[in-house]
Order: sequence, then C-alpha cells, then structure tokens
Amino acid sequence: MPLLSGKKILLGISGGIAAYKTPFLVRELLKQGAEVRVVMTPSAKDFVTPLTLATLSKHPVLSTFTATDLDNPVWNDHVELGLWADAFLVAPATSNTLSAMAQGRCNNLLLAVYLSAKCPVFVAPAMDLDMFAHPSNQKNMETLTSFGNQVLPVGEGALASGLEGKGRMLEPDEIVARLISYFNPDLPLKGKRVLITTGPTYEAIDPVRFIGNHASGKMGFVLAEVAASLGAEVQLITGPTHEKINHPSVAVQAVVSAKEMFLAVKKEYKRSDIAIAAAAVADFTPQSVAPQKLKKGKSNLSLSLIPTEDILAYMGKNKKKHRLIGFALETENELENAKIKLKQKNLDGIVLNSLQDPGAGFSVSTNKITFIHSDHSIQTFPLQSKLECAHRIFEQILSL
Ligand code: CTP
Repeated sequence: MPLLSGKKILLGISGGIAAYKTPFLVRELLKQGAEVRVVMTPSAKDFVTPLTLATLSKHPVLSTFTATDLDNPVWNDHVELGLWADAFLVAPATSNTLSAMAQGRCNNLLLAVYLSAKCPVFVAPAMDLDMFAHPSNQKNMETLTSFGNQVLPVGEGALASGLEGKGRMLEPDEIVARLISYFNPDLPLKGKRVLITTGPTYEAIDPVRFIGNHASGKMGFVLAEVAASLGAEVQLITGPTHEKINHPSVAVQAVVSAKEMFLAVKKEYKRSDIAIAAAAVADFTPQSVAPQKLKKGKSNLSLSLIPTEDILAYMGKNKKKHRLIGFALETENELENAKIKLKQKNLDGIVLNSLQDPGAGFSVSTNKITFIHSDHSIQTFPLQSKLECAHRIFEQILSL
C-alpha cells in the first residue's frame, strides 16, 4: 500500500557528496506514490546530474531563477513551487545551505523556494563530523527547528573525508519513513511491536553438516515489510536465508538453530504486541554434535534426535495481551490439522498453506493461504504473491 499516495514532495538538493543518493531518494518517494519535483543548488550539479533526476521524477529540474538557455528567458517561479508542494525536503542540506536558510539568505532558487514555501519543511543535514558538531551548525539547526522546520537526525558511520562519526545524511529509506510517519499519523500499527520468526533452522550434526529444510524465509520478510509499512516496530528473527530487508523500523536478528531462535524469541516476546511464527523450525535436533567431521564407515549411521522446544507453543502458554498467529504447512487433512494446532498452541489465528496447492509453499514467490480464526471462522484467498498474502494476513489480524 503506497503511503505517500498523491503527496507532492519538492526535493531541494544542495551540493554535498550525499547528493549522489538523491536518485534513490526520488525512486523511494515515487514507490510510495508521491509526485516529486526537484530544485537544486548550482553546486549540487557537480554531484548528481539534473538529467538523472528529471528522468526519474518526470519533471524538469530547476536550479536557476531563469531558464537562460532560451532566447526569451523564462522565470522559474519559486513561489509557485513552494505553493505546489505538500512538503519541501532539503536533502542533503549542507552546512552552507543550512546557514543560508537560518539567516534568510536568498542567493539561489532553492533558498528562494524555502523562504516562500508555506508547506512543512524537512531538512536532512549532511556534513563531516567536525562541521556537524560545530556550534554554528548546531545553532543553525536549532534556529531552523524554532522556525517549525523538522531537522532530521544524521546517520553515523564512514564519511567521505575518510573519518568516521556523526554527519552522514540519513539513508533515503529512513528519510521516506519519516515522511510516511508525518503524513500518516493514524497508521493502524503505530506504536505496536511485532515479533516475526521466519526461515528454516539448521541443527548441527558435526562441524560441516546439519539437518535443515527448504524454507526460504520470504514469507516472514514480506510480513515484516508490511508490518513496518503499517507503522509497527518489527523484530524479525530469522534462520539462515538469502532474503534481505532494509527498513528503519525492522530490526533483523539472525539465528541458526531452533535453540537460538527460541532464546531470541524469549527475550523479545514480553514486549511484543503481535507475534507471528512463520519459521519452519526443526522439530528435532541431534542429541549431541560430533566435535569433528563424521567419517564415512562401512556400516549404517544412526543419529539420536531429541525434540526441540516448540517456540510457538511457548508463546501460546505465556500469552498475555499478545495477538498470536501461527502458520501450518500441511500435506494432508489440512483444515483439521491446522485447527488442532490453533487450539493446542493457544493461537488467535493460524495461516494454513498446503503443499498440495501448486504455487504454494517453499521457495516460490506466491502462496495460497487460508486464515483460520480462533472461533474457527475461515477466510480463503486465491493464489497471490507472498507480499499480497502478507497484506491479507494483516487485514485479518487487524480484524481480530
Ligand atoms: N513452530 C515453532 N517451533 C517449533 C515447531 C513449530 O514455533 N519447534 C511453529 C511454526 O513456526 C508454525 C507452527 O509452529 O507457526 C506450526 O508448525 P508446523 O511445522 O506446521 O507444525 P508442528 O507444530 O511442528 O507440528 P507437525 O510437524 O507435527 O505438523
């Protein structure tokens, strides 16, 4: 669900190295349904080309008061731009641009737009760590805050100077997440913590071998993405996977074995509001792990396996205010088996998928799900992408 649908975002780019990230910023904004126009300072063009930004935003990029390459120069109307926008986002905001904004200087189009804009203004500073820490920059940011502008925090890490510290521009997805929060104060999962388990677990046999399964982790990752887009803070506890997620509201914790997953869940569960167990947890683990690689002998090999902790059953037993959702992957007597799990594990809902359905199950990007509520009411859905399934699952959870 695009969360900036119909919003008009005016992006003001000033001349710092972080400007190279602005095409990604434009793309992220468009992905969320926003319309984007770009103004840039003349020096920003040294870091990113207007052609790139115009191509992505599908609007001409403006950087001067007049379009001077024509016989009859055209005035680039800064007032119109400021009035058009629902939000003016200055990213990156260099030390120079910050101080000009704080002092009301007006020697380029970006500053003229800033001074005439009536919409909310967001500022994403970007500079080297000592510049950022300098009292004059700190004071300028305070001044902008006192004007009602939202000065976003900076990131910490490697800087273009080769130094490490505070001063990086916030990553494009984090900037977009802040705009989303601003425009959607009523997101249904705002202030809620969602815990999700996903992926397979690997149970070590010896230092090189393990017992695992075919789960890809994809379903849990798209659930995390949807939960975050609905405003939640997400803890995603995942077994070994190739899936990736980059969202400021999703904290990923990688685990390997069922035991590690259990310990991670135990730590997080208490402070969660919603927990979804999408992991394909191994039900058994070798009783002991051979310290050295097992050598092949002539006779059969027997492994002694002991049961793992049922993580979802633990959550069911310790359920307080939580909404608790499980998954059931079945190959026969699907509905009956899923209902038994729902009851035995004290769940509020269970998502059933059957390996008998073509296009459902492991390692495919589609799924065919049935959601069973604790009162045994049932919602079935057609084969759809796992992302669409994740939306359907949250619609059901929100209806609980
Ligand atoms: N689950 C879990 N911990 C386990 C086993 C399962 O948290 N040790 C969770 C899964 O994440 C899923 C639900 O329990 O949400 C059902 O898992 P599934 O493998 O379908 O069933 P099991 O309970 O393992 O029972 P069975 O293997 O007999 O079908």
